[in-house]
Formats: sequence, C-alpha cells, structure tokens
Amino acid sequence: MALLLLGLVLSLASAQSSTLRRDFNMARVEGSWFLISLASNNMTRIGVTGDLQLYIRDIKFLDGNLKFSFRFMLQGQCEPVTVLCKKTQRNGEFSIAYEGENKVLVLETNYWMYVIFYLRNIQNGIETRVLALYGRIPTLSRPYLDRFKMAYSKYGMHPSNAIDMAQKGPCYF
Ligand SMILES: *[C@@H]1O[C@H](CO)[C@@H](O)[C@H](O)[C@H]1NC(C)=O
Repeated sequence: MALLLLGLVLSLASAQSSTLRRDFNMARVEGSWFLISLASNNMTRIGVTGDLQLYIRDIKFLDGNLKFSFRFMLQGQCEPVTVLCKKTQRNGEFSIAYEGENKVLVLETNYWMYVIFYLRNIQNGIETRVLALYGRIPTLSRPYLDRFKMAYSKYGMHPSNAIDMAQKGPCYF
C-alpha cells in the first residue's frame, strides 16, 4: 500500500514538473489549437448562441500581444474572426475590450498538448468567468480533462458548469 502510494505521488510529481503555471514562454503557446471544453458561471454565454463560445483555432504572439484566430457564430454562420489581446504588466496576462472588459490569462500549459485559459469578463458591472481547455489535437485524454476539472473547481465551478466541446458544435470543422 505504502509503495503504491509512493508510486502515485511520484507519478503525480513527474506529471506536475512538465506542467507550467507561471513564467510562461508565450511564444511556445503559438500555433494551432482545438477547443476541448468550456466552463463558465453563466452557461448562457458559452452556449450555442453565447457570445463567449470561443472556437480558438490559432494563436500568434506578436510584440508581446496575443492574436487569436477563432470561429464565431454570426447570424447562423460560422465566421472567422481575429482579435488582438494586449499584453499587461503580468506574465501570461492580456486584456481586450469585447462585450465589455476582459482579462485573459494563461492558467497552465505544457505547450505541446494542452493549454487552459481563464477569461474574466465584466459587462455592465456583471462578472462572468470562463475557463477554456484547448488541445493540440482534437480530443484529449482523461488526465488533461481532470486537470481542467481541477482548474475550474478552483474558480468555484462544478461539472454542471462545464461543457464538452471536443469535435462538437456548429463551428467545429
Ligand atoms: C447570463 O448571461 C445572459 C446573457 O448575456 C444574461 O442575460 C444573464 O443575465 C446572465 N446571468 C447572470 C446570472 O449573470
């Protein structure tokens, strides 16, 4: 039992070391991503017609800013959109005016397989939180989904706040 536990602790520790939670090298977040899962304290905003259902497909790092290319439902059509999130004083933190004021943060990533973003939107004094899990491939395995669960739990959200978006939705192709 003790050995089993030790093994578990060691394997968790090694999984941990490949994962970054700070001092991000944003250039390594560049490239293609697939939307895997979303979680929010307001499900309306990440639903099919939600203004925060963000199918990011590509990220570029330009002069310290982040350029997101995503697809977005506009009048029943999936349209490509690009937005520039401006760098802030803090590593891994960006801001953008879109449906109110937004802070966009990288919560964790290992660069080569997954990234978790946190978006805090303030619109008319109401705060909406969105966590988004993206993968380098269209679906991710259980350990990554568990990491996402841990991440949104920290922000007071439950599985009922999360939706599986892997290979789903009108803008997936
Ligand atoms: C959730 O978002 C919808 C659409 O923007 C809004 O009408 C509603 O008031 C929001 N609910 C909460 C609890 O913020």
